Amino acid sequence: MKPVKVLYFALICSAMILLLNLNAYGQAKVTKEGFGKTPDGQDADIYTLTNSGGAEVKITNYGGIVTSLRVPDRNGKLDDIVLGFDNLDAYLKGHPYFGAIIGRYGNRIAKGRFTLHGVEYKLAVNNGENHLHGGTKGFDKVVWNAKPRKVANGAALELTYLNKDGEEGYPGNLSVKVVYTLTNANELKIDYSATTDKDTVVNLTHHSYFNLAGQGNGDILNHRLFVNAARFTPTDAGSIPTGELRSVRGTPFDFTRATTIGARINQDYEQLRLGKGYDHNFVLNGKIGTLRRVARVSESTSGRAMEVWTTEPGMQLYSGNFLDGTLTGKDGKVYQQRYGFCLETQHYPDSPNKPKFPTTVLRKGDRYHTITIYKFSVRGAK
Ligand code: BGC
Repeated sequence: MKPVKVLYFALICSAMILLLNLNAYGQAKVTKEGFGKTPDGQDADIYTLTNSGGAEVKITNYGGIVTSLRVPDRNGKLDDIVLGFDNLDAYLKGHPYFGAIIGRYGNRIAKGRFTLHGVEYKLAVNNGENHLHGGTKGFDKVVWNAKPRKVANGAALELTYLNKDGEEGYPGNLSVKVVYTLTNANELKIDYSATTDKDTVVNLTHHSYFNLAGQGNGDILNHRLFVNAARFTPTDAGSIPTGELRSVRGTPFDFTRATTIGARINQDYEQLRLGKGYDHNFVLNGKIGTLRRVARVSESTSGRAMEVWTTEPGMQLYSGNFLDGTLTGKDGKVYQQRYGFCLETQHYPDSPNKPKFPTTVLRKGDRYHTITIYKFSVRGAK
């Protein structure tokens, strides 16, 4: 080809790539609707993020809750694959953290106490004698400021919240930002950041209950799970880590080869008895702060698969053990035991009291920043 022709060819190719991108960007969108008022009179809204392929996530600024997430199965059929409700009242009545942002400290802090720089802080105790998921009014129960954000590769919503010094007993004004992005590659990306004006502890996570066969469509025991973790953190009867990092080898916690969640869940193994199933933190392989693939789940009837990528050192596998049929969710579906599983990326539970665990201290002037991605795909697509 002559140089001029090569130039023309290159120009045409670039124009086409640009047009394709613009098209994808043009299709992704965010819409907003009212979702009701909280008891203290604040307005809650619900945002629908749609990507260029039609996948869709609904997020309310009440608790930053993902109320629905619709992704394709192997035939391209969209289904809602997270547990939840279609109205605010149901969330206000109480629920086990369906789809919510969890903070200031996700998971448990023993006896609701920790000491930082010689000062003991007393937190709300809301789970037996322990503190769970940020206390009585954690980040899952507050109204966040929300604004759609322009991104090139999908649709995004930015949530911010100023968590005041002393709320639920934590020190320091914590300025928190969570950005949810539904990318055009069917990824739900969660970008968490925070700064404080006083040294404190922070551990943010997300609490969706997934069922890749569709929410309410049976239990999750046949989902195949791979977790890239050679160790886990065994707990006491109150689900507080003992401090041991135990090898998964030869135990029902070995998911280094994909295995169904249900295959060993009823084995006579002390940790499964204590958790009433899986309710444990895995010590993820790889380096903290590096975004890496840590888990993969697949469901054979729908062909759906989900990968989890994170910068975090740990991940709680919770197999929905305490769901008991008392909650009725979307489409009148009754949520029975193990109808959903959570993969909560995090620092290990009770880190503020476990000096050997990776630290959860955020110092004044530093920036907390973690990323987690739930990436959806299908197997055996037609
Ligand atoms: C905890 C469980 C708890 C569930 C819902 C999970 O993150 O580990 O013990 O029951 O959240 O509250």
